[in-house]
Parts: sequence; structure tokens; C-alpha cells
Amino acid sequence: MMKHTIVGFVIIAIILSLSFSLESTNNIGQKTYQDGDEIEVMIGDDPFDKMMAVLLHKRCVNCHPGGDIPLQGEDSHLHNFDIERGPDDHGLAGYTCETCHSSENNDFSGVPGAPHWALAPRSMAWEGKTRVEIASQMMDPNRNGGRTPKEIEEHLTEHELVLWAWNPGVDAEGTPREVPPVSKEEFIEAVKEWIEAGAIIPAE
Ligand code: HEC
Ligand code: HEC
Repeated sequence: MMKHTIVGFVIIAIILSLSFSLESTNNIGQKTYQDGDEIEVMIGDDPFDKMMAVLLHKRCVNCHPGGDIPLQGEDSHLHNFDIERGPDDHGLAGYTCETCHSSENNDFSGVPGAPHWALAPRSMAWEGKTRVEIASQMMDPNRNGGRTPKEIEEHLTEHELVLWAWNPGVDAEGTPREVPPVSKEEFIEAVKEWIEAGAIIPAE
């Protein structure tokens, strides 16, 4: 009898410590799309980690490229049809982004859309950069369009082009575009938390 009770206690202790260690890593399961299938990925609970998991996603980076040509698709290939940034980031005269991109997605043609569709300026290029480099330039008024931290918070939590990433429509084949790995609500909460705590950028 006694032996059984002790074995029982040991098993309960193991189960408790296992569930505790799972909980203490505090990972959250997030649903996203990859090649049209719903998958789940794990991201830590730190606000900076959550925020940067979104900024590094192709839905953002495709419009914040290193060069003068927007990127497209899950593989971030160069935009078709000889598209270029042009003098004001809205394309070339007579052949602007708005020639094809309207203020909403066109799920018949597969052309994505949202108000003010344009390429992010060169000073806001994110392609190929680390999350620390991206966060540093995003908070630098010389490179972020003269924005204060509060204005960056508003841009990240309210701007149509940012929010489009969670409603990205379908591509020309009718396949849903992948959404960022953190939900919109959790992203907004993480951004506010990070900025209100002083926007501290970790060393790496
Ligand atoms: C359709 C293209 C497009 C998409 C998609 C897009 N952006 Fe941008 N982004 C822009 C443009 C254009 C600007 C410049 C706007 C301005 O300065 O008023 C910009 C500026 C910004 C800025 C201002 C500060 C800076 O230094 O970069 C932030 C922050 C930002 N975008 C975040 C995001 C995030 C996060 C996503 C994805 C969730 C995203 N963007 C997706 C086009 C885009
Ligand atoms: C001739 C029409 C046309 C013009 C002009 C055009 N685009 Fe596009 N764009 C498209 C089409 C079509 C797609 C969708 C391709 C697909 O996903 O199958 C697309 C997709 C994109 C995507 C991909 C979104 C993603 O995350 O996959 C971005 C970013 C983009 N365009 C930016 C721009 C910018 C910025 C401009 C202006 C400088 C521009 N486009 C001008 C037709 C155009």
C-alpha cells in the first residue's frame, strides 16, 4: 500500500514539474497560413519578440525592400511588370501603384489593395536587416519620417498598410496569402506594451 502511495506521489510530482516547466516558457500557439495550409508556430511571450516576429514577416518586408522594386509572394520575388519605386515611392509617372492597386483587395484578380498603397521610402528599408537594426531605424526620427515613439505606436497599431497584413487577400492563383505569425490583437498589445515601457531595444 505504502509503496503505491509513494509511487503515486512521485508520478504526480513529475507531472506537476513538467506542466510547470511548460508554462514557465510561456509560449503561445499562433495560427498562420503557409502554402495555403493552416499551421501553428510558437513565439515567446516577450513584447519585443512578438512585435518583431510581425515586422520580419514578408507581408511587411515585401513593401520595405532594400532596393527600388517591391517584392511579391511568399518567396519575396521581385515584383512583375517592371515596377519601380519612382521619385515619390508611388511608382513611375503614368504607371503608379494605384494603376493596379486600389484601396481594397481584389480577390478576383489577386491584386492586393489598401489605402495609400506605395513602397516604403529607402530610409525605411528592412530587407536583409536584423531585428535590432530594424527597430533602431524605426525609432530614429532621422530615418522614420520624423516620428515620435507615440507616432510610431499609432502607425503600427492603426495604419491601413500595417493592418492590411492580417487581411492580405488571395494571390493570382486564388491561394490565401500567409498572415503574420502573431494575431493582430496580440501584436497591437505587444507594441503598446513595448513602447510604453520605454521602447528598449535588446542587444540582439
Ligand atoms: C503596401 C506597402 C506596405 C506594406 C504592406 C507595409 N508597409 Fe510599412 N510603410 C509603407 C510606406 C509607404 C511607408 C511610409 C509612410 C509614411 O511615411 O507616411 C511605411 C512606413 C512604415 C513605418 C514608419 C516608420 C519606419 O521607420 O519604418 C512603419 C513602422 C511601418 N511602415 C510598419 C509596417 C509593418 C509592421 C508592416 C506589416 C505588418 C508594414 N509596414 C507593411 C508601406 C508598406
Ligand atoms: C501592372 C499592375 C501593377 C502595378 C502598377 C503595381 N502592382 Fe503590385 N501587384 C500587382 C499584382 C497583380 C500583384 C499580385 C501578385 C500575386 O501575389 O500573385 C501585386 C502584388 C504586390 C505586392 C505583394 C504583396 C505581398 O505581400 O505578396 C506588393 C508589395 C506590391 N504589389 C507593391 C506594389 C507597389 C509598391 C507598386 C508601385 C510602386 C506596385 N505594386 C505597382 C500588380 C501591380
